[in-house]
Order: sequence, then C-alpha cells, then structure tokens
Amino acid sequence: MLEIQRNTPQVGAIAEGVDVRKLDEECWNKLYQAWLDCNVLVVRGQNLQLHEFLQYSRRFGTINPHPSKSTRHPDVPEITLLGVNKYNADGTLNMDIYARGASGWHTDGAYDQIPFKATQLYGVAIPSRGGDTLFASMYAAYNALPESLKQRIEGKIGAYVYGGRRKHTALLNPEDRAKPPVFHPLARVHPETGRKALYFDPGKILRVEGLPEDESNALIDELAKYMVQPESEYHHKWKKGDIVIWDNRCSYHKAAGDYPPEEDRIHWRVSIKEPQTQTTH
Ligand code: OGA
Ligand code: MN
Repeated sequence: MLEIQRNTPQVGAIAEGVDVRKLDEECWNKLYQAWLDCNVLVVRGQNLQLHEFLQYSRRFGTINPHPSKSTRHPDVPEITLLGVNKYNADGTLNMDIYARGASGWHTDGAYDQIPFKATQLYGVAIPSRGGDTLFASMYAAYNALPESLKQRIEGKIGAYVYGGRRKHTALLNPEDRAKPPVFHPLARVHPETGRKALYFDPGKILRVEGLPEDESNALIDELAKYMVQPESEYHHKWKKGDIVIWDNRCSYHKAAGDYPPEEDRIHWRVSIKEPQTQTTH
C-alpha cells in the first residue's frame, strides 16, 4: 500500500509500497500532489528497465534529450547517464563526470528558453558512502529575502547560458558551446502552485539585465546567500532502486560529489519540460 512520508516541513516526500509500473489514478494523483507540495519526491524500491523509467517519467511532462550529447545513453538519447566513463584514457579521474552537479547549488536547464520543469534520476549503482544529493526550496529562499531585496528584484530579468560567467562548457560538444542567452524573471511564480520563488542560478546566470556589470555581480552574490535556508534542506541518501524527481521551478540542488571514486555511482537521468501548450513564461 502506498505510504508517503513528508520528510521536512518544506522539502522532500518519500513514497514506499508502490510499483510505478502499475499505478492506479488515485496513487498517481497522490504522488504528483506530494511532489508539488514538497518539491522533491522519492519513490523507493523500484526495479525498472529503461523503457519503464521513460514511461513513468512521461507522466510528468515531455522528455527532452539533454544538451550534453556525450553523456547521453548511446541507444536512448532521452536518457543521460551519470557517473559513466568516469576515467580518462590516461587513467586519471574525469572531474566533469565524477563531480557533475557538485560545483554549486543550482537549478537545471535555466539556459533554455523553456527551462526544465523537472529532473528525475533512477539509482542504478550506489556507492557504499557519500554521493548524496542535497536539495533546498526556492520558495523558502524568496521568503527569506529582506523586503528591500524583494523590491529590488521585482520585475528584474536574468540572462542565462549553459556555461555561465565561468564559461564552463566541458560536457558540451564544441558546436553547442556558443548559444545566445535566454531570459527569466528572478522572482518567478510557479505555474501550478501559484507560489513565488527565487529563480536564479549563480553558475548559469550571465547578468541581471539593465544593471552595470559590477552591480549585477553584486546582486547575484547577495542573492546567492539566500538560496539555501537551513530549515528547507533535504539530503537524499541514495539506495539502489530509488527514483528521485525534483521540481526545477521551485528547488535548488547539488551533488555532494564526495564518494570513493573507485566505486560506481550510476544514475539514469531524464530532463522533463512542461508541454509547450501549458507554458506561461
Ligand atoms: C543533476 C544533478 C545531482 C546528483 O542530475 O542535474 O545535479 O546527485 N545531479 O547526481
Ligand atoms: Mn543538476
């Protein structure tokens, strides 16, 4: 029987006692609502083939192949492989693969005009220690801003590219590295919950439109301090067979990146967007 435990007051719901291949409508609605309410939904104890993971993922929206072509599954481009091909030809650790997602708190897909609604991972191989995924709420971040800062960002637009100000594009093919920026409001109303969130990503934002460069950088630094509110954090400790989905419209996340490199940490990942007709931004 489906049981959902809401993990912290704000982020993380853990579901057990369900097989995502055989969900009735009532269970699906409960899972989806828990996800909207808690930003991150964990479903434990699954045993899935690739096509079954894709089929379940499509219930959340449209799956888009990730722009990092070199890390796509060779036969199924909608699936990104995390933690595969971790070693370079000379035997050194490839840090772009090993520490993917670990360089800072972020939200996925801000470099797209329609950013990712969700990212979903399935745990295929889990190391004996380390390798957690950390989550925080963008709603809590917005609510924690002083009133004056809320007013300063109201109506302000951020410009984003994949590599951000550091131009970190190692996982992109050379021909995909020079895309023009896209634009998103810094304070963004979630299209399904109606709640307001601080939407920005210090690793992908280039600038805040309409500000001189030094002011733009100062504002980005100031906002970064509010991204992670301690009471809104959830640290996921992976078990093999876990599915974890996070809502990129209202949560930040980060890989801990601290597992023994000689052990496998492998996930299947899908990037999910809102169907075009539903978008409101
Ligand atoms: C990602 C990501 C975190 C992790 O897949 O976008 O940041 O723990 N992953 O692997
Ligand atoms: Mn990520």
